[in-house]
Amino acid sequence: MAPPAIIAPSILSADFAKLGEECSRTIAQGADWLHVDIMDGHFVPNITFGAPVVTMIRPHVDGPEQHFGKGTFDCHMMIAEPRRDVGLQDEPRDLIRYIHEQGMLAGIAIKPSTKVDVLWDVLESPHEKERPDMVLVMTVEPGFGGQKFMASELPKVEELRRRYPNLNIEVDGGLGPGTIDQAADAGANVIVAGSAVFGSEDPAQAIKLLREAVEKRR
Ligand code: DX5
Ligand code: ZN
Repeated sequence: MAPPAIIAPSILSADFAKLGEECSRTIAQGADWLHVDIMDGHFVPNITFGAPVVTMIRPHVDGPEQHFGKGTFDCHMMIAEPRRDVGLQDEPRDLIRYIHEQGMLAGIAIKPSTKVDVLWDVLESPHEKERPDMVLVMTVEPGFGGQKFMASELPKVEELRRRYPNLNIEVDGGLGPGTIDQAADAGANVIVAGSAVFGSEDPAQAIKLLREAVEKRR
């Protein structure tokens, strides 16, 4: 059985002028995690925010009681040099090890132009500390909220789910009432949604709908 549904609204679509309040409200409306899109204007054309903003919003949401628990900040690092400050080589497994050593979980993301095959090596790493805890399959080109869902990316999710029945597999981009069923059918269990939650008249209902679509298939 696939792991439980995790709904992670993307605060990229929140009102940045009152971000703390938006974060606590969204958790109260039933979100499990908050998806925090960090963009540097190089890896992607957009610029959002960095560590100081994450530090400022953290007190607005109770931290998780266990790994992957409610209140997790799912930091999606769309930055060209994630290793710059820690002096690491260009190897995902080094960075994953480093993130684990800091007491965090580590995910690895692939964008539409990246083949799923690049992940097998790192997922099969003989050292547990070098293996990612989650894979994010982007279902839009990273950079902006509100883009059209790319169903062309779903075979990557299917392949991952076939090989790894217990892995947390996240999808991000264009998820909402019209696309969640396809993503859930493919095997995704961690659902990012920006505009579908923050743009909804009833965010609690939007979160519930996403969760039910995933849970129905478990
Ligand atoms: C895009 C970001 C997404 C974005 C999704 O680069 O990674 O997290 O916020 O927004 P929606 O759900 O509106 O497509
Ligand atoms: Zn994202």
